[in-house]
Amino acid sequence: MQPAPPATTEERDAFLRDVIEGLSASPKSVPCKYFYDEVGSALFDQITETSEYYPTRTELAIMQAHVSEMADQIGSGAVLIEHGSGSSLKTRVLLDHLGDLAAYVPIDISREHLLATAERLRMAYPDLAILPVAADYTSAFALPDLPDGKRVIYFPGSTIGNFDEEQASAFLEQAARIAGPGGGLLIGVDLKKDPAVLEAAYDDAAGVTSDFNLNLLDRINRELGGTFDRDQFKHRAIWNKAASRIETYLVSLRDQTVEIDGKAFHFGEGEAVHTENSHKYTVKGFAAFAAQHGFRVRQCWTDPDDLFSVQYFETEA
Ligand code: AVI
Repeated sequence: MQPAPPATTEERDAFLRDVIEGLSASPKSVPCKYFYDEVGSALFDQITETSEYYPTRTELAIMQAHVSEMADQIGSGAVLIEHGSGSSLKTRVLLDHLGDLAAYVPIDISREHLLATAERLRMAYPDLAILPVAADYTSAFALPDLPDGKRVIYFPGSTIGNFDEEQASAFLEQAARIAGPGGGLLIGVDLKKDPAVLEAAYDDAAGVTSDFNLNLLDRINRELGGTFDRDQFKHRAIWNKAASRIETYLVSLRDQTVEIDGKAFHFGEGEAVHTENSHKYTVKGFAAFAAQHGFRVRQCWTDPDDLFSVQYFETEA
């Protein structure tokens, strides 16, 4: 996960608005996109190295084991478009096997990071056209003129799991529109499994995920002048079977009042602030969901323990 750029006034205003709205609601919540300031992004990278957090290493292993078949599905002369490209680390596995791509289009909200990554990729792949797009892909954005060729959207990391149903639908709808007729979608999707494995992945013994969650309070203090005492909150991760998702919370350890931008918020003892959902799918369930948006499954790859999947879809030609 790449560090976010320093916040602009508009970004700070949006953060303040979302925090005030979320903490004024009942039950309280804060959108998970605010995890990723510089500290949070570094903590996320550390999470991916804990023994309990299996998704990142499992997805990478699936990519490495099956990249030739993925390249066969993508075919020659395609335009590869990556939403939320970050450091494009998993993409390099693909790029190493897609010698004749028409272009690679990384899309990321962090312009500086995106341009630096594009430069590094140009050095590593001098014959590849790299067309970076600085945009928030969760809203409408413009693409540059793209060369002809089958368009394939790449969306690794099971980031789709952090979307609610409406957001995931909007993403798939946009992906289908960008891919166009006969276009592809290669997507990383985390799978349902033993709740104990899931809860451990989101509450590692070393406390890195707890720090990641509590950093949200520090960030509110740093950027919005909040008065949170992080020691008075506790990280909690629970499996919600009915919604098929891990939910993370920050639970108030006592009755307390916190000020943010001069506004007081009361937290009762045991009151929980909902900070993230991470949905887990079955392979069939995700295929059915993607089908509602015009994507037909072509191939799916999993690891030997069926922890994670990488799925390839195409739209009708
Ligand atoms: C980025 N995203 C896919 C991670 C996940 O697994 O839902 C975020 C995360 N939150 C806690 N640990 C990891």
